[in-house]
Order: sequence, then structure tokens, then C-alpha cells
Amino acid sequence: MITTQELRQKYLDFFKSKGHAIVPSASLLPDNDSSVLFTTAGMQPLVPYLVGEKHPLGTRLASVQKCVRTSDIDEVGDNTHLTFFEMLGNWSLGDYFKTESIAWSWEFLTNPAWLGIDPGMLAITVFAGDAVAPKDEESVQLWKNLGLNENKISYLLEDNWWQLSDKNSPCGPDTEIFYYVGSGQPEPASNPKDRPQEWVEIWNNVFMQFYKDEAGTCRPLVQKNVDTGMGLERTCAILNGFKNVYQIETFQAIIKTIENCSDHNYGEVPELDRSFRIIADHLRAAVFIIGDPRGVEPSNLDQGYVVRKLIRRAIRHGKLLNILENFTINIAQKIIEQYQAAYPELIKNQEKIIAALTQEEDRFRQTLEKGLKQFLKISATFSANQLISGSAAFNLYETYGFPLEITKDLAEEKGYHVDEAEFNQQFEKHKELSRTATVGKFKGGLADHSEVVVKYHTACHLLNQALRLVLGEHVAQRGSNLTEERLRFDFSHPTKMTVEEIKKVEDIVNEQIKKDLPVSFQEMTPAQAKADGAHGVFEEKYGDLVKVYAIGNFSKEICGGPHVTNTGTLGHFKIIKEEASSSGIRRIKAILE
Ligand code: ALA
Repeated sequence: MITTQELRQKYLDFFKSKGHAIVPSASLLPDNDSSVLFTTAGMQPLVPYLVGEKHPLGTRLASVQKCVRTSDIDEVGDNTHLTFFEMLGNWSLGDYFKTESIAWSWEFLTNPAWLGIDPGMLAITVFAGDAVAPKDEESVQLWKNLGLNENKISYLLEDNWWQLSDKNSPCGPDTEIFYYVGSGQPEPASNPKDRPQEWVEIWNNVFMQFYKDEAGTCRPLVQKNVDTGMGLERTCAILNGFKNVYQIETFQAIIKTIENCSDHNYGEVPELDRSFRIIADHLRAAVFIIGDPRGVEPSNLDQGYVVRKLIRRAIRHGKLLNILENFTINIAQKIIEQYQAAYPELIKNQEKIIAALTQEEDRFRQTLEKGLKQFLKISATFSANQLISGSAAFNLYETYGFPLEITKDLAEEKGYHVDEAEFNQQFEKHKELSRTATVGKFKGGLADHSEVVVKYHTACHLLNQALRLVLGEHVAQRGSNLTEERLRFDFSHPTKMTVEEIKKVEDIVNEQIKKDLPVSFQEMTPAQAKADGAHGVFEEKYGDLVKVYAIGNFSKEICGGPHVTNTGTLGHFKIIKEEASSSGIRRIKAILE
């Protein structure tokens, strides 16, 4: 038996022995200037370094990264898919490439001193080649040199190309490692391409040497990187000979606690097992999102809406297990207990997690029964064509708080479908009306490092310092969000800014732009940065060294970059809105013209 903690440690120890620095897990909620809702891969916090920025800890990094992928939510409950998972990853930032990457993955997996997996149970896929990158013969040769049989190597196209999103994303061909989960030993004809159901992907090695720009065109990056990701839960399951991820020790403990709340037992009825699994997965994700250092609570907006969906869907599946009273905090407590050693933020934020779950469960239970009755009514009307209309589904959302996923579950149980396109249309319209914008972001996308966004990033630093000069030293950045069209900047300040204050801030920023100040950075310890008068968050996110960006003598901030090299390129800075964001936090929207 190997535990998840042992596997985390082994992975990090192995890559430490190969000269890698260990990077702590970044927040599940991406950095301020990201356009995505969640961190979906270990490489995501490292994008600036993959595209050429210098990382303070060097060119070889490894981490265990908390990830959330909502794109797989419909598959949760099968043997391998999860919304929250931990990704073991190692990176070369223009350092080693295919040879070492492939050899080290193989060594870690098969060497008895490390995981000792039987090589006969492994198979590989490689990139088949297209107009951008050729068929990856090089990787094939490397795998063969390690003793892998030709019939266990298959060529794929889309599956062996990795990118975070269709544009503004580093990308490249990859080679994936699969483990055999069929019965007995794999037959010679069995491989992940021809018999995918017999294989589970455990590790993906991406040779990240391209960048897809705004138009979706691929161009070579200045450096050739390696980006790998291995699923902790999946790997832990196969090492223990388990058929599914829910058999690992942490999930077993969580499922036992769900059993204690229900009069059903896990392992008795397959459909009910699915509910046990969905509850375990969704509440684990919700606990990690609420309990993150940048955690968010259930709401109708962005990440908050995802948390709401996860919790509500878990409660609905609880009902299928005859759990009729509040139970999510019991499960959350077990989840916190299981994960607190690896993720101390969960115990630190325990009260917040419990309070948020209690409130959400109280609230949803008030409308759950009525909503279910309403669904029965609707489904009777629509049974003729077996399609639940989008507006009926939207009504369930608006009136009874049923996220689409719940209505889809209910429909599926009756053999019906929901008109999702129509639901989404109404949802979008509703969002527009309430002046919020979430839906587009669910699919992902990436922190944008286009030229314009980089300019806005530098403008944020100028604005931050100008606010401090005009309003006082209490001003601290509380968040930011950058697009091609504007910057949004949240900061602590108790009162509405006056027209004069706004004008003064604008003038100061524009003065610095006119001076064409040079922008540069230095690496130092957080203590040195503090002593040096740099502003910013002093959490030791990147370990021992941080980057401090200086804009002339005007501003000094801890920041990962990237920035323009001179302020003269920014154009004219104008504040278009100043408003309250939340209690004690103001929000500025500004443009560069
Ligand atoms: N970034 C790659 C993935 O997520 C490793 O699969």
C-alpha cells in the first residue's frame, strides 16, 4: 500500500535528485491578471517562465499542484475523472529536453527504487505529425532505447498535442504514458489507440516549444521547454492495484463518512455508487476552493458559481442516498482531516469552509423539494419529445436554484435531454442584463501575455503607487484583472475617491509615462525585498527568491512579470470608473488610449 502522501514525497524526492527546485502549489484561483477561473494544470502558474521570463529558482522545477477542471464534471463518477485533483509535475525551462524527460519518467515509474511498475503494463502514445510539428520519431526512438516494445507505441494527433487554450498559449507535441487496466496482462494487440478502454493515461510529457498567438498561429518559442503532468490520484490507485481512484485511502475515508450519513452502503448498487463518488469528488473540490488562500464562497458569479454548482449537485445526490438533512459539513470535516497535513490552508480556513457550506446547504434545501416537484411537472409536459426546453431548465435555475447540471442529471435519469444551447442563451442574456460576465470564462483560456495586456500590467504598477501617493500608505492591492480593452484594479481604501483624487492619480500616472521610465527587475529574498521597500504580497509563493520589478525610482513591487521595458510605450492613461468592490475595497477601471 502506498499512500498519496508517500507518492507526493517520492515524486518530489526523485526530481530533487535530478536537480529540480521544488515549487509550492500555487493558489487554485489563478493570479490576478488571469482570464481563467481555476488553475487547471501545474504549468499554468509557470506560463511567464515558459515564454521566457527568468524563474527565480532556476530552470528545473517540480511541484504538486492543486487543480480544478470543470470540463470533466459530467464524467465524474466513472473510474478516473475528478473535478479537483493533484498534479505532479516537472519542468525544464529551456534546460533539458526530450532525452532526459523521457528517461526520467521511465526511471521514476519502473525503477524498483522508486515506483517499480512492471514495464509490461505500460504503453505510450506520441504525436503523429502535422503542418506545425513533424511526427515525433525522436521520442519513439528514445522510448525504444529504454526497451519499450514497438507495439506499445501508437501515434495520435489531437490527443498528443497540448495547449491550455486555442490562443495566447504555449503549446507543443506530447508523449503520454498509459497503464493497463484491462484484465490479466495486455495482449500484444492492445494499445491506448485501438483499445482505449483498457488503458488509463497517467503521465503527460509535453515538449512545449511553440506559442499560439492571438490569431491561433503557432510560432516557435525562444526556448524549448518540458512540461509534464501526472495525476496523483490515478497513479496512487494503479500502484495499489485499485480499479478506480475512489479506492485510494483519502477517498475511502470520505466515502465512509458519507455512508454514516446515509442508510445505503457503498458497493451495493452501481447507480448509488456513482452518487457516493460524485458527493466525495464535488465536496472535496468545494472544500479546496473555499479553503484556498484566495478562496471564494458560493455565489452566482465566476468561481463562486462553480462552488455553488458543486455543493448543490452533491446535496441532490445526497438525496438519492436518502440523506435528507444537512450533511456537507460532516463530509467537509473529514476532507479537511485527510488533507490538512499537505494543505494547511484547509485547517486555517476551516471556519470559513464550514460556515459557507452550512449557509449554502440551508439555502438550497429550502427550494430543493419544490424544484424537484416542478421538474416532474415540466417533464410530464415535455415527455412527448423527451426534450426539456432551455427556458424550463432556466426557470428551474432562476426560481429554485437548480444549476444546469442538476436538471441534466434529473433529465438523464428519465431518459430525457435538456436543450443546453437554449439554456445557455438565456443564461447569457440574464448575465448581460445583470451586468456580469461569467459564462465565457468557464471553458478556460489563459493569462494573456499579449503586448497590450503587458502594457496594462505595467500600468497597474504605476496606478498602485499613484494611489498610495494620493490616498495614503494604507492602499494595498487586493486584486486585478487585465484584458485587451482595460485594466481592473481592486485596492483597500475606506471611502469613495473624489473627482480631484481621481484626476491627481491620472496625472501622476501620465507623468511617469511621459518620463519614459525604464522597467527592470532584480531577484532577491522576500526579506531583502521588504527591506528594499518593495510592495506586494510577501507569501513565499516561489520559494526563496522573488522578482522585484522597479519602474525608474517611482515604483517597486514584487511581481512575476512580464512588463514593458519602458513606460513611454503605454500611451495615455485614463480612469473610466471608480466604484465599491466590497466592504473597504474600491475598484478602478482604466484604459490606455
Ligand atoms: N500541461 C500538461 C497537462 O496538463 C502536462 O497534461
